[in-house]
Amino acid sequence: MVRLGVLVSGHGTNLQSIIDAIESRRISAEIRVVVSNNPGAYALERARRHGIPVEVVEGGSYASREEYDRVLVELLRRYGVELVVLAGFMRILSRVMISAFPMRIMNIHPALLPSFPGLDVQKKALEYGVKFSGCTVHFVDEGVDTGPIIIQAVVPVRDDDTVESLRQRILKEEHRIYPQAIQLFAEGRLVVKGRRVFVKGDAGDVACGGVLENPSVTVFDGEDG
Ligand code: GAR
Repeated sequence: MVRLGVLVSGHGTNLQSIIDAIESRRISAEIRVVVSNNPGAYALERARRHGIPVEVVEGGSYASREEYDRVLVELLRRYGVELVVLAGFMRILSRVMISAFPMRIMNIHPALLPSFPGLDVQKKALEYGVKFSGCTVHFVDEGVDTGPIIIQAVVPVRDDDTVESLRQRILKEEHRIYPQAIQLFAEGRLVVKGRRVFVKGDAGDVACGGVLENPSVTVFDGEDG
């Protein structure tokens, strides 16, 4: 059972998919706290309805990203969080958060990284004219949408797509793969080697020595293990 802290800013459909996966016992996790930088986020309402503690930490009153993140780290530690799950959290994290939870922060992004990092990415994908897009679950490092990729899902882009229709098609896949990624972490099956994330137990298993840093994620230091 992995203890999650879910960070949100908006509607919270990804949060809902994680709550649903937990309640139907598809994943072995517990949401200790839902944190939002936006007091009006509908995601908070979803959490309350399921009896999950909520906290709001608004950005405005902090002098720097680091100062904000120190409050976040303290709060997440207080709730005993092991894995931080960014679910539509619209803030960039600083080194303070990344170093407090190394390879223990996941994010979901509505594009096939490394294509289209940043914001408004469904619009960018349509404008670029790609024939496929999708979503990416990745560990968070100090860059923006640059961390090691855990799972991706692909969707077609149709000729008559609007930003909204593409957004919905991608979102459906987000709701499928984010709980999966969390479950792989919970089972201790994720192995990070440089930029690559391997899943223990999959075909082509990685069978080399490394440092088992905790039961949930194995991180190999250096170029090759
Ligand atoms: C999701 O599409 C998520 O991938 C995206 O925000 C949406 C949140 O929806 N995240 C980002 O763009 C992060 N850069 P939700 O609040 O309904 O889960």
